[in-house]
Amino acid sequence: MRQATNRASALATTAVARATPGTCTLGAAELIRQRRSAQAFDGVSGIDTEAFYRLLDATLPRPGIPPWDAVTWEPRLHLLLFVHRVENLAPGLYLLLRRDGAEALMRASLSAEFAWERVNDAPAHLALYRMQEGDARAAARTLSCHQDIAADGAFSLAMLSEFERDLTQAPWCYRQLFWEAGMLGQTLYLEAEAAGLRGTGIGCFFDDPVHELIGIEGTALQSLYHFTIGGAHVDARLQTLPAYAHLTRTRASD
Ligand SMILES: Cc1cc2nc3c(=O)[nH]c(=O)nc-3n(C[C@H](O)[C@H](O)[C@H](O)COP(=O)(O)O)c2cc1C
Repeated sequence: MRQATNRASALATTAVARATPGTCTLGAAELIRQRRSAQAFDGVSGIDTEAFYRLLDATLPRPGIPPWDAVTWEPRLHLLLFVHRVENLAPGLYLLLRRDGAEALMRASLSAEFAWERVNDAPAHLALYRMQEGDARAAARTLSCHQDIAADGAFSLAMLSEFERDLTQAPWCYRQLFWEAGMLGQTLYLEAEAAGLRGTGIGCFFDDPVHELIGIEGTALQSLYHFTIGGAHVDARLQTLPAYAHLTRTRASD
């Protein structure tokens, strides 16, 4: 308990790099209202490097910026990225560390075969590593319950949580892992919309095969939630009506 409290105050006092400004002119309310989960992606659209880094940057916890202002603990989730079509980045597996000081644990817990090449083109405060180059679409699809959405977007990801580090001493931290995953999901949904793309949370995935693929043994790390982002197919059969439109129609026909 004491350990977790100390970490909370550490977050509040940590100097955090600034978010990179975006180009989206839509307001938060518009983005929130237009947000939908993509049902399918076009398999061709990619994301430009700047938008990709901005999106990753938005997942970093910052005091005073929603939803991260609701987080009182140090981040425990890191992003294992399946990069398919990101401008200037070779397809493959990448890792974004969201906590300073997490690298030693991650290196010790993940396959010794990973390259751990720092992506030097990324903003310096993004701890982004190229782990393995190659076409990651089939792996992403299979690991996310054979869902095409994990392979047909610009990239998809698994949220890897530091599982044992705090939970052995403070099991109640378990729920915080899922709160953090949910906040990451909501951030990704809205940032995808702001980038002119679309996201989908993926709750159906095979955790043990994910762990096998990246060499996790034991419970030091666990995959908790997946997500995918890309150019969505829009289902023209779906209609968008104003809230309570059915009541307006009923009144008009009275
Ligand atoms: C935690 C969570 C897990 C989800 N898992 C999947 C999934 O595995 N596959 C999928 O196609 N959609 C998945 N979705 C998307 C939901 O199907 C979608 O959010 C729901 O149908 C409501 O649609 P909306 O997001 O457009 O409001 C998930 C959404 C959430 C929040």
